[in-house]
Amino acid sequence: MGGTLPMLNAPHHTSVRRSVGNVFDRNSLAGMRASVERTTHRLLDRFEEELAYGPADFCAMVSEELPVITIGEWLQIPRADYAFLRSLTHDQVYTQELFPTPSQLALSEESSRQLHEYFTALVEERRKRPGNDPVSSWLRIWDTQEPDREAADRAVYSLALFMLLAALETTSHVLSGTVRLLLEHPRQLNWLRIHPEQIPDAVDEVLRYDAPIHMISRVAPEETELAGVTVRKNEMVQLMAGAAHHDPAHYAAPETFDIRRRPAHLGFGGGIHFCLGNALARLEADCLLTALLERLPGLRISAPPRWEPRVAFRRLITLPVARV
Ligand code: HEM
Repeated sequence: MGGTLPMLNAPHHTSVRRSVGNVFDRNSLAGMRASVERTTHRLLDRFEEELAYGPADFCAMVSEELPVITIGEWLQIPRADYAFLRSLTHDQVYTQELFPTPSQLALSEESSRQLHEYFTALVEERRKRPGNDPVSSWLRIWDTQEPDREAADRAVYSLALFMLLAALETTSHVLSGTVRLLLEHPRQLNWLRIHPEQIPDAVDEVLRYDAPIHMISRVAPEETELAGVTVRKNEMVQLMAGAAHHDPAHYAAPETFDIRRRPAHLGFGGGIHFCLGNALARLEADCLLTALLERLPGLRISAPPRWEPRVAFRRLITLPVARV
């Protein structure tokens, strides 16, 4: 993980981030929308069929699927590998948790090893058979700026790996979290059905109320004074973004979920490390909610959702839903 974007400082960070290119600018996203919409409708078709027989798990059937299909198709990874990669990302995250147990750390180490193997092979394969995909285009860019081919391969490896890691649990959590919170607040759900243009605001309130990432880590490059506390050089500071989102000094009635609030938030981080994929995550949330509001009125949560017991990275494991 050492070479991944969040671990880098300027000026190295600047050049790596620049090398990614405008992958999720307005034009690229407009090009991706049709396929995200297609995938969304395909997933909802299956979900709807399942609902005809009784409760169905929204996480397993929809919110865990859309992000991995979206990023997998974008990176042009074989579809047969999606489930394997998604399961590795669930295990890998423990290394960034606040209080991981030794067995969680072992799980995380093993999944990091397998991810390393997978993405090293992917970069090698794109070297041999370059195509019209992000990994091949990053290789072309790095070859022009890095004379050492192995160093170029390592840089592209870190980019591809981190794009997958950064894109999956986070987006899944926003998709399942939005649906959970709206089903728990039916009046707001009905209002949103009449005002679908407010979906982006609703997503922002979900990112404030229950952000996927509750904790962002930083290491002090030198002794620093932070809000009256001295942080020594090389000490790690955990920014508790999830707690900041419920600070009554910043938000009126912070425990109230209110999709008309339009909050500023730290859900996508801030500063030079601001989330590079935020527009893609927003696109997925927009496509899914638009389709869900149109197609599936009258849903309810049929059993208590189950959560992964974590602090830093939120994960809803199941969200059982049924017809009213
Ligand atoms: C709702 C979904 C998402 C959330 C909540 C989220 C959240 C975040 C946060 C909080 C950071 C800052 C980390 C830090 O400061 O240490 C970040 C960085 C990043 N995210 Fe996201 N993310 C999401 C989706 C995505 C997607 C879909 C992608 C890629 C396709 C992505 C790619 C990245 C990358 C590459 C960075 C590192 C940026 C840098 O260090 O310069 N994210 N994300």
